[in-house]
Amino acid sequence: MKTIIEPFKIKSVEPIKFTTYQQREQTLKKAFYNPFMLHADDVLIDLLTDSGTSAMSAKQWAGMMEGDESYAGSKSFFRFETVVKELTGFKHVIPTHQGRAAERILFSIVGGKGKFIPNNTHFDTTRANVEFTGAEAVDLLCEIGKHPETVAPFKGDIDVLALDRFIQEKGRENIPLCMITITNNSGGGQPVSMKNIREAKKVLKRHRIPLFLDACRFAENAYFIKLREKGYANKSVRNIAQEMFSLADGCTMSAKKDALVNIGGFFALNDDALAAKARNLLIITEGFPTYGGLAGRDLEAIAQGLEEILDEHYLQYRIRSIEYLGEKLTASKVPIVQPPGGHAIYLDAKRFAPHIPTWQYPGQSIVCELYRAGGIRSVEIGSVMFGKYDPQTKKLISPPMELVRLAIPRRVYTQSHIDYVVEILLEVFESRNRLKGMKIVEEAPTLRHFTAKFKYAA
Ligand code: F0G
Repeated sequence: MKTIIEPFKIKSVEPIKFTTYQQREQTLKKAFYNPFMLHADDVLIDLLTDSGTSAMSAKQWAGMMEGDESYAGSKSFFRFETVVKELTGFKHVIPTHQGRAAERILFSIVGGKGKFIPNNTHFDTTRANVEFTGAEAVDLLCEIGKHPETVAPFKGDIDVLALDRFIQEKGRENIPLCMITITNNSGGGQPVSMKNIREAKKVLKRHRIPLFLDACRFAENAYFIKLREKGYANKSVRNIAQEMFSLADGCTMSAKKDALVNIGGFFALNDDALAAKARNLLIITEGFPTYGGLAGRDLEAIAQGLEEILDEHYLQYRIRSIEYLGEKLTASKVPIVQPPGGHAIYLDAKRFAPHIPTWQYPGQSIVCELYRAGGIRSVEIGSVMFGKYDPQTKKLISPPMELVRLAIPRRVYTQSHIDYVVEILLEVFESRNRLKGMKIVEEAPTLRHFTAKFKYAA
């Protein structure tokens, strides 16, 4: 097998800034040890997120010039709508400025006190949007997905038996819909199998509960199905994606991931009444239904991106480049969530820094050191992002996993950038005993990870 190369050549480049260890020590301190507060200019390799960080293609940029900026009935909207309908089969397509806007609209209609939303694992904004309405966001991840060391093909699956039990316990009238996140971002970027989506749909149909996909990384999920699920090897990724969507009643989508754009999203669904309510809310907060808070040119770029993402040379390179980083780390015994996910490598901070207790945020300590050592920005997905305080004892309740995510922007970094990331990671791993625990000195009541300020624990 020959090297799987980047299936593109580079037409436009952006310089990155080199800094010294001492400079980074200072900038990190000024950012209160929270990488969200760094100036991106001070970052050499930015693996904070794969969201909105893609490099657009020449055709997407050309599409932007074609963008029709009419307030109502823009030609670009119709191109966008046609592409989304062809892919998802959903009757109504509602553009939004990004994924969380679609979530907010959806949950402010169906959520509310006493309601429950099950999901394989809610992403942080999804959970926040559910909980903001007073509803409860419930994660029902399959057992195998909770074990970072275990290699299995579909660790993002929802636990279908638990879902059935949950519905019987809470009552179908209190569960307006079920979500499945593809791929499961908070659980390691792990895919969900077609079989699992089908089985979940069967249970939900019996209880007359609709299924919505959180579809940000649908193409990566579909490619994993092609690689790993029996019966799909010879199907096109487009057909696999269409089959996934055909099992659902709607989806929310952050186009900032698998539509290869810097901004955008949509809400698509079959239910006429729900769509009408959603459009009314959209008009109040986002914009007229043919632009939804986006410019016509953004809709053009999304439409083009949704075509390009299904190119199987691209997906082969994409999945392989994440696996490549994973293989190098595994070869040096760096603990990561196995197998590598679709858009990121997740370090297992509990095994990386076992001497730091979860209440001293081992993941955050690793994040800081990766920046200091090599100018690499990553993000903690553990007790900082998902930790909660017990209302009685005020003690931190940690989530099951303490992870550090190295998310790879699409079409942005080359293999040598990734080789450099490996070198820095190995350096930090070798001196991991020197990593120190941290404490939070200031935090917001929701989504605290974005703005929390940290100090090293004494
Ligand atoms: N759902 C999932 C699974 C996500 O990963 C994200 C965003 C969203 C919804 C919200 O979309 O950002 O367009 O509003 N994830 C980004 C990340 C932020 O870094 O993983 P958005």
